[in-house]
Amino acid sequence: MFYPDNEYHIRQLTEADLAQVCSIEKRAYTIAWTDKVHAECVESGYPSLILKQGGAIVGYAIFNYLYDECHLMNIVTDPNFQGLGVATRLIKAMYDKARKSGMVKVILEVRESNTIAIEFYHKQGFAEIGLRKNYYKTTDGQEDALVMELIL
Ligand SMILES: CC(C)(COP(=O)(O)OP(=O)(O)OC[C@H]1O[C@@H](n2cnc3c(N)ncnc32)[C@H](O)[C@@H]1OP(=O)(O)O)[C@@H](O)C(=O)NCCC(=O)NCCS
Repeated sequence: MFYPDNEYHIRQLTEADLAQVCSIEKRAYTIAWTDKVHAECVESGYPSLILKQGGAIVGYAIFNYLYDECHLMNIVTDPNFQGLGVATRLIKAMYDKARKSGMVKVILEVRESNTIAIEFYHKQGFAEIGLRKNYYKTTDGQEDALVMELIL
């Protein structure tokens, strides 16, 4: 369970977290990132974050920096604990970390069918700035990505 009023910890995602992260990933998505992609993000030294409570990971944000832009590639809350403010806490921690590293904006792509994530990003203040045609695979084809931006 995630209890919003209880103590929680946000820290950098390390190799030791991969098993829990990959397990959440598979439960959160129909088309999930592979374990290999997650491992490569850690090996590459991405500054990604996890949120932990009571010893269990409840959410994570995978992101990287390019010049002065923070690219948010994946943000997930364990499906059992969604709607309780986990991703809001994680994304705010990412803003703080990215600002300290000199980033001036956050960029992301999101499936145009992912209305919950789009709603979440709007609530965080992201604006839609573009469309990438056929950016994502679906179970039976492809779909477009919305490109969204937040100025830090
Ligand atoms: C998108 C996601 C990360 C949000 O995580 P979360 O921890 O549930 O989000 P929060 O509880 O912090 O919600 C913050 C806001 O997001 C929006 N939101 C979250 N869940 C929502 C839902 N089911 N329906 C509509 N809006 C929703 C609301 O505006 C919410 O604010 P509110 O609680 O005041 O209504 C989560 O739904 C998830 O893991 N989805 C699967 C993975 C995914 O699609 N990630 C994004 C990839 S680009």
